[in-house]
Amino acid sequence: MTACIVGWSHGKFGKLDNETSESLIVKAATAAIAHAGIEPKDIDVIYVGNMNGGFVRQEFHSSLALQAHPDLRFKPSTRVENACATGSAAIHMGLNTLAANRARFVLVVGVEKMTELNSAQAGDVLIKASYVAEEANIEAGFAGIFGKITSAYFQRYGDKSDALAKIAVKAHKNGAKNPYAHFQKEFAYEFCRNPSDKNPFVAGPLKRTDCSPVTDGAAAVVLTDVGTALGMKQAIAFRAAEHVNDFLPMSKRDIIKFEGPQLAWKKAIASAHLDLLDLSFVETHDCFTSAELIEYEAMGLTAPGEGERAIHEGWVERDGKLPINVSGGLKAKGHPVGATGVSMHVMSAMQLSGTAPEGMQLPQAKLGGVFNMGGAAVANYVSILEPLR
Ligand code: COA
Repeated sequence: MTACIVGWSHGKFGKLDNETSESLIVKAATAAIAHAGIEPKDIDVIYVGNMNGGFVRQEFHSSLALQAHPDLRFKPSTRVENACATGSAAIHMGLNTLAANRARFVLVVGVEKMTELNSAQAGDVLIKASYVAEEANIEAGFAGIFGKITSAYFQRYGDKSDALAKIAVKAHKNGAKNPYAHFQKEFAYEFCRNPSDKNPFVAGPLKRTDCSPVTDGAAAVVLTDVGTALGMKQAIAFRAAEHVNDFLPMSKRDIIKFEGPQLAWKKAIASAHLDLLDLSFVETHDCFTSAELIEYEAMGLTAPGEGERAIHEGWVERDGKLPINVSGGLKAKGHPVGATGVSMHVMSAMQLSGTAPEGMQLPQAKLGGVFNMGGAAVANYVSILEPLR
């Protein structure tokens, strides 16, 4: 690969009543350009990752990035959408633009403002990322899709509710150390494991603590080529960036195999000439705890059906052999869909530059993996990142 992240920004995620998608975009863009140590006029191309589809009335977001500075006027800017992988899709558009020599500096902003709607209404928007012809009548919005996947997994491999509860506990323990996270508090195992008034079943075997929350937030990166990056104050290089789309209908796939994520990981690991365990950490797409469980298998950490070993045996804890979601993941950090992929890259860039918040920073972060997923294992993006020098 020939591209680097040379500037980044990340706002606090949460229910941000005083922000609009416009204000979130403007703050994220301004901060990322400043962090890169360049001027707004130096940006050649802009991509705005935003899913929307009814979260807010304003749907056409590309030019809102131009509000960050008058010098951004007339820059080509495009909104990118690929469901919950929208942020990584926008980054990939930036990488492609650089590879085609169509820009020196690309600004990528990921944003979503979800909390103007209540959870049920947000679920109605999110379900549009399913195969509507067959799947959209499921109850509980997108949680219903993962409820179905989780039930099918339990049917094949046995009830894994203990593992799911431990994944939630890990996420919140890590999120408690992340000042950007939506939830910054620890949750007890008993609370996550047992249904209660405060932790009801949402869909199938999934309880509230198995779900990522409905969140507002934005993050941004500045990308450039390696030659330019060598002269900049910080540079995190893409050692691999792979994108694999699978069929949309779940009826056309063995849905608990996550074959798209598996192939994306396989291609990324091969093109980076690495073994999975060479990675210092992974930020993975835990939209639901069961997604993280199946992703352990898809990335090749365990055999199919044995994902629970990774959490029961502590491999994925922050001091384990492959720390996963030390940021708190989508579960604790929040999942403002269009921002999530960009956020995962920013969290990784912070780790790899040694600038993550105290308590979240890993001692030896040399190589990071990112897996961002749109729909139920449909749009799959893996990045492998390392410091340029
Ligand atoms: N995990 C843990 N706690 C959560 C939570 C979550 N995901 N979502 C909300 N809460 C907490 C709130 O902070 C609040 O706590 P409080 O009473 O101490 O203030 C309480 O639960 C009630 O919040 P509310 O927003 O009314 O909950 P809800 O039942 O309406 O929504 C979900 C909960 C899980 C249904 C909702 O977060 C959801 O739909 N998540 C999935 C989003 C999704 O599908 N994303 C796309 C994935 S691909």
